[in-house]
Amino acid sequence: MGGEDGEMISEKMKKKLIAEALEARKNSYCRYSGFAVGAALLADDGTIYRGANVENASYGLTNCAERTAIFAAVAAGVRKFKAIAVVGAPQGEKAMEICPPCGSCRQVMAEFGDPDKFLVILGTEGEERKELLLKELLPYSFEL
Ligand code: THU
Repeated sequence: MGGEDGEMISEKMKKKLIAEALEARKNSYCRYSGFAVGAALLADDGTIYRGANVENASYGLTNCAERTAIFAAVAAGVRKFKAIAVVGAPQGEKAMEICPPCGSCRQVMAEFGDPDKFLVILGTEGEERKELLLKELLPYSFEL
């Protein structure tokens, strides 16, 4: 049976991933930008890895929420993923608008996600939501 592509992730699971991303966002360390991002990454085995953005006084060292989640999973020995939910907004505000991943995070997703199957869920605390396959978010990604 297939069932591994984005189409097959249940509505219940999508909502859970957004809720997990919102929880992760609470741990954002964003004292320089004041912009708090959370991510929740669904592995093939059903485990969910959370990530938040972690900033630094040397600004360029900042790690985005998406990459934090992916690196946590890979560091735990997990490399196969189905989807990631991302939420972001100024700290202290509700996340009411979608927060599309930066180019660096898209490229890191492309390292581990199947372009035709990996689903990127841009969530909010309201009604708005956008779902994109990795190939839509990052066409012609760099590969070796
Ligand atoms: N940020 C993320 O965590 N993910 C993105 O995809 C876009 C940007 C963070 C980085 C920085 O801490 C803050 O948002 C403002 O750029």
